[in-house]
Amino acid sequence: MTSFTFNTTRSIINEIGGIKRIGEVCSQLRFKRPLIVTDPGIVKVGLLDKLTAGLDGTGLDYALFTEVVADPPVETIMSCLEMAREHGADGVIGYGGGSSMDAAKLVALLLRSDEKLEDIYGVNNVKGERLPLILIPTTAGTGSEVTAVAIVTTGPSTKSGVVSPVLYPDVALLDAELTTGLPPIVTAATGVDAMVHAIEAYTSSIQKNPYSDMLAVKALELLSKNLKPVIEDGTNLEARQNMLFGACLAGQAFANAPVAAVHALAYPLGAKYHVPHGTSNALLLPHVLRFNSSHAKEMYAELAPICFDGVPDGDEAEISAWFCDQLEQLSKDVGLPQKMREAGVQANDLQSLAEEAMLQERLLKNNPRKVTVEDAFKIYEAAF
Ligand SMILES: NC(=O)c1ccc[n+]([C@@H]2O[C@H](COP(=O)([O-])OP(=O)(O)OC[C@H]3O[C@@H](n4cnc5c(N)ncnc54)[C@H](O)[C@@H]3O)[C@@H](O)[C@H]2O)c1
Ligand SMILES: [Fe+2]
Repeated sequence: MTSFTFNTTRSIINEIGGIKRIGEVCSQLRFKRPLIVTDPGIVKVGLLDKLTAGLDGTGLDYALFTEVVADPPVETIMSCLEMAREHGADGVIGYGGGSSMDAAKLVALLLRSDEKLEDIYGVNNVKGERLPLILIPTTAGTGSEVTAVAIVTTGPSTKSGVVSPVLYPDVALLDAELTTGLPPIVTAATGVDAMVHAIEAYTSSIQKNPYSDMLAVKALELLSKNLKPVIEDGTNLEARQNMLFGACLAGQAFANAPVAAVHALAYPLGAKYHVPHGTSNALLLPHVLRFNSSHAKEMYAELAPICFDGVPDGDEAEISAWFCDQLEQLSKDVGLPQKMREAGVQANDLQSLAEEAMLQERLLKNNPRKVTVEDAFKIYEAAF
């Protein structure tokens, strides 16, 4: 067995209705003046009230930053940091999808450590400590509540990640009651994102390990069985909790066996065209997997029966091809766009997108098959 180190969030609360315990969790972490980090969409649908209801009457003097922009740009982090400083925050609660949780992670870090954001992009460049941090996902999703990563939009078509074990929060709280109001299109996009995390972790070429494999398999079992049910009935609490838990398991898997070319090629679509993160992953997923299958068919054939019933007889290559087709069909069935052009991508941008994707070396090195700029262009053409 290859050597590996496995890290994760130290406390995970998986409980329908668990948000009611937020006061207790804050008091365990000795919060007195927390900053809540969220986005305007969460406020609009009335979700913020579920959090503040658990804090009001506890004596906590909390402040609210409700202006997180999706795929948070540097400016979001900076204005949130300024508010945290003004408030004298002694803890941070990230409440929302990956965008709010990632912003919360960085603010908790930058406030305590006094480092500059531009100095800490990349892997293990963080030197300081962070403030106590609670992350509460409202999408099932990114798994950010159990990853050591925070992603920032750094330019018109570029995203950068800060990767450091300091970014694991103290507590992750998974409560399906917070996800019942997710619009079907967000449920679909974030659910497919979580599936991609598990698939890419399972085939990660460098840090794949027995722990991450086990988590990825369980994650895929939960996500693939529950995605259609939550699209059909968004109020199905049990299926919603299974999705949240599945996304969390997938997050734990890829935090330790990182994602690869699907994410590397998806990032430029998010940064340049503001295609939601999960949708951009879904657009690339079948095409990157078909490209990878010469090197990963055995692993895709292993995952096929975990995700789908009715695996046909055939060799690994045939089952792997069937797996890619089934994933494409699932993405169609849950209502996601199937072609990049439907998401606003321009044909004459494919070359520059391919060049941007090549900058994601941190991710591409985990891919089971080497991707050149020519390969990236061809994959974008197939997805266009
Ligand atoms: N840190 C990590 O490990 C990691 C992993 C993958 C992706 N990401 C990042 O996460 C971000 C994407 O996160 P996301 O896909 O969760 O979306 P998001 O946080 O950008 O939210 C998308 C939209 O959904 C709305 N929303 C969220 N929860 C809702 C709910 N319960 N009801 C109604 N509306 C709701 C939000 O208001 C927002 O408008 C990207 O920036 C991506 O790069 C981070
Ligand atoms: Fe992702």
